[in-house]
Amino acid sequence: MTRTPLMAGNWKMNLDHLEAIATVQKLAQILIDSKHDAATVEAAVLVPFTDIRSVQTIVDADKLPLAYGAQDVSEHDSGAYTGEISAAMLAKLGVTYVAVGHSERREYHGETDAQVNTKVRKLAAAGLTSIVCVGEPLEIRKAGTHVEYTVDSLKGSLADLSADELAKVVVAYEPVWAIGTGEVATPEDAQEVIGAIREAIAQWYGADVAAATRVLYGGSVKSGNVAEIMAKPDIDGALVGGASLDPEEFAKIVILGKTA
Ligand code: 13P
Repeated sequence: MTRTPLMAGNWKMNLDHLEAIATVQKLAQILIDSKHDAATVEAAVLVPFTDIRSVQTIVDADKLPLAYGAQDVSEHDSGAYTGEISAAMLAKLGVTYVAVGHSERREYHGETDAQVNTKVRKLAAAGLTSIVCVGEPLEIRKAGTHVEYTVDSLKGSLADLSADELAKVVVAYEPVWAIGTGEVATPEDAQEVIGAIREAIAQWYGADVAAATRVLYGGSVKSGNVAEIMAKPDIDGALVGGASLDPEEFAKIVILGKTA
């Protein structure tokens, strides 16, 4: 079973729509100039909601070798939910990927596994792929229960999803202590948890589904460390924060993401 690696840049709350256009054009140009084959490593940018329409326009018009997406979605379909954006609205903008349950949503907005689960269902129903984020805070890592903690959070986030719905899920393991800190989990640390995630998916959905599901690592990924992370057997790509804001650096990550 081959899983196409995915390098997804999570811009977080950075780059307005004009900056987004410049960044995406530069990123795409570098990938095109370096003859990057999108079939070997997929590249995606998860941009602020206000950037999506602009990014869609240039990606579509110039057929850029990039997917784009959002960083969150509402649990609701429509109605009196001030400030929320629905899965249908994102689908209308041609979005491919939507991050769900990022640790910053969990920490600053109290998002729970149950809410993440609802969001994943809404996205699957709209034909969109979720990037479901899980990962332990530092105190759990220090206590040595990071594997159980992360698998348990994933279990809640994927609760009662059908195999068809799971086909629209990418998992991202992002240890909270490694996000934006410069502190990278070692490739062995990442493989330990990601291997356990794949085993858990095999228990829940069977070996074939587990073999087909992409699991990414996120946390201080840069061009200097991506190759050793990608060398691990269960790691299928990266969710990249800070380093994805620089198109030259992110293009390098995409190109280096090719596994042997
Ligand atoms: P950094 O790459 O900046 O550590 O962020 C990781 C992240 O949170 C991606 O979603």
